Amino acid sequence: MGSAIALGLRRANPESSILAIEPDAVRRASIINGGITAIEILPNPIASEVLFLATTPQDFSSFLEINPHIKKYKGIIISVMAGTCISELTDRLNCSQVFRAMPNLACAENEGVTIVLAAASVTQSNSKKVKNLLSGLGLLLFIQNEKLMHSATALVGGGPAYLSFFAAALYEYAISSGFEKASALLITAQLMSGTSRLLKLAQDDPIKLCERVMTPGGTTQQAVNIFEKNQIKKTIIDGLKTACARSATLGRST
Ligand SMILES: NC(=O)c1ccc[n+]([C@@H]2O[C@H](COP(=O)([O-])OP(=O)(O)OC[C@H]3O[C@@H](n4cnc5c(N)ncnc54)[C@H](OP(=O)(O)O)[C@@H]3O)[C@@H](O)[C@H]2O)c1
Repeated sequence: MGSAIALGLRRANPESSILAIEPDAVRRASIINGGITAIEILPNPIASEVLFLATTPQDFSSFLEINPHIKKYKGIIISVMAGTCISELTDRLNCSQVFRAMPNLACAENEGVTIVLAAASVTQSNSKKVKNLLSGLGLLLFIQNEKLMHSATALVGGGPAYLSFFAAALYEYAISSGFEKASALLITAQLMSGTSRLLKLAQDDPIKLCERVMTPGGTTQQAVNIFEKNQIKKTIIDGLKTACARSATLGRST
């Protein structure tokens, strides 16, 4: 996720100075390949105005052990770690200018969604800085209720995975029907982006678009009847609820 953010920030503002910290040599080489400067360890002192923390929550403790100098840093810290709450971040990082963000991989293409929560202690000017910075990654929404962050993790962080899962079904069906792989991929991707555009224009419950496509008694309805019979919508909602519960567990276990 860290490299997606770096790529998105670079695209949004090609003049920005970005330094990625990546301990893994293979990943570091791939970040450098993408045109972003990357080094192995966090410099001491840290000169950056903004620092993104994109380790996994499970790595947070070892990250703090390896980088104790982060506790002297007085800039802005934006954590994208699932589960780890604002009070834990401000305490363990010894920093008052902390933001918790839940982005997704589409940030790399400036088409992401990012949900952000600011610590109560952040200054207005830092809040504005973060707003300007993250709005370059796509849709940005500030929230005040931290409880929503677990749902944001399930919905926004995982969102591209669920849509890709559905897209994989369309893709596999297209191939099994005889389309070439390249055509199957083009059709699937265009179906997703075309539908997304229609949904944005309609500004209505997505089921209305589904109903618009379905001629009563027609072919699409036959497919949707099977989805309904197999409770596909309920299954997806159950999946998101489980992801949300996992986010809450992650917070308690770090
Ligand atoms: N995946 C998503 O789409 C997504 C979406 C929203 C939020 N997130 C959040 O983003 C975070 C990263 O997720 P991910 O899926 O990108 O996981 P990941 O692919 O496993 O990446 C974790 C990154 O943290 C690095 N890291 C570990 N210890 C470090 C240290 N001491 N110093 C510096 N870097 C260190 C890892 O490097 P090594 O390879 O060397 O371990 C790796 O680059 C998680 O907290 C997750 O909740 C992910």
